[in-house]
Amino acid sequence: MTDNLSARVEDALSIVINQRTGANVVAGEQVRDVATTADGRVFLTLVLAEADDPALARDVRAAVQGIEGVRYVRVNVAEPAAAGAAQTPTARAEPRRPLPVMEQRKHAHPSSSAPTPQAFPTLGRIIVVSSGKGGVGKSTVTANLATALAARGRHVGLLDADVYGPDIPRMMGVSGQPRVENEKIVPLEAHGVRIMSLGFLVERDQPAIWRGPIVTKLINQFLRDVQWGRLDYLLVDMPPGTGDAQLTIVQAAQLAGAIIVTTPQEVAVGDALRGAKMFERVSIPVLGVIENMSWFDAPDGSRLPIFGSGGGARLALELGVRLLGEVPLYQPVREGGDTGVPIVVRDPDSAAARALTALTEMIETT
Ligand SMILES: Nc1ncnc2c1ncn2[C@@H]1O[C@H](COP(=O)(O)OP(=O)(O)OP(=O)(O)O)[C@@H](O)[C@H]1O
Ligand SMILES: [Mg+2]
Repeated sequence: MTDNLSARVEDALSIVINQRTGANVVAGEQVRDVATTADGRVFLTLVLAEADDPALARDVRAAVQGIEGVRYVRVNVAEPAAAGAAQTPTARAEPRRPLPVMEQRKHAHPSSSAPTPQAFPTLGRIIVVSSGKGGVGKSTVTANLATALAARGRHVGLLDADVYGPDIPRMMGVSGQPRVENEKIVPLEAHGVRIMSLGFLVERDQPAIWRGPIVTKLINQFLRDVQWGRLDYLLVDMPPGTGDAQLTIVQAAQLAGAIIVTTPQEVAVGDALRGAKMFERVSIPVLGVIENMSWFDAPDGSRLPIFGSGGGARLALELGVRLLGEVPLYQPVREGGDTGVPIVVRDPDSAAARALTALTEMIETT
């Protein structure tokens, strides 16, 4: 079934033509890493050369969205590896609304080739929530963890580093353009959490076309130019994989650690392991693993392992870290995400909310 969907994705994309080359994006080897799930989610990477029209990303997304049964599409844009270093690529599209501070500031340190991670003492412990794979629940975990920590009286910031598909505004129920005060962006606030996201600054459909240097610039700006105030924790919601956003954050800031989210099945665990290894390589501690969508409580009382079982525990074992929690698959979690009320607020007594709330203690003692 899933393979079948991959084939249909390929079929749909083989009629998307790159006007520059005249070839379709599949034949032109511009489409990579197609991953699909049985419930109709599609993830892929589009390789976009400097000279390509960035609207191609939108065409690709539209083509996949048009396939019957597809209910979620994520297009990550990558640069052709060889082109990357040589020719200083620029963004093909600027945010529709100007970023308030970015262009006016003279850079304190001209961009050096090997930035040293900086300490941000006022931001408290900076913890990134990452995974190898898309759609496993990073944003859901981050939004709920931030909300639960804030409910315990902690000062919490939530930085949405998923500049390709910022979901945090929707999940936290917050939108609008942040104010600028004294050359700093004032974060928006919801559920007691201070939030910054590219979603506040650009139209919803735009972010899929950022290129590496812009991603780096944006994330640095979100660390430096946001008036976070004094925080106990800054949680950072990452896009899937090990791309520019991950690279930027590990180079920009001294991190307290990374939390790795996985689902129980083998393929997610393999991806998550690769994602986690990246943090280990740069000496950032992996604080633990969270397994999401661990089981489904059926109405008859039985517990169904929809996505298999044991993956989180296996991953934790492999990494030599703690399994911090297992969060069941529970429809109100998604509904909460869609309506901006995290499950820890919406239905705090549910098993899913309890598992997410318990994470706060793990975090505070890790
Ligand atoms: N435990 C859960 N039960 C039910 N639905 C869930 C659960 N966790 C996440 N979801 C839903 O699954 C979808 C994917 O979750 P989410 O967006 O948090 O994943 P992600 O890893 O951040 O994805 P991406 O890689 O696209 O950023 C969302 O619609 C979310 O509401
Ligand atoms: Mg996400």
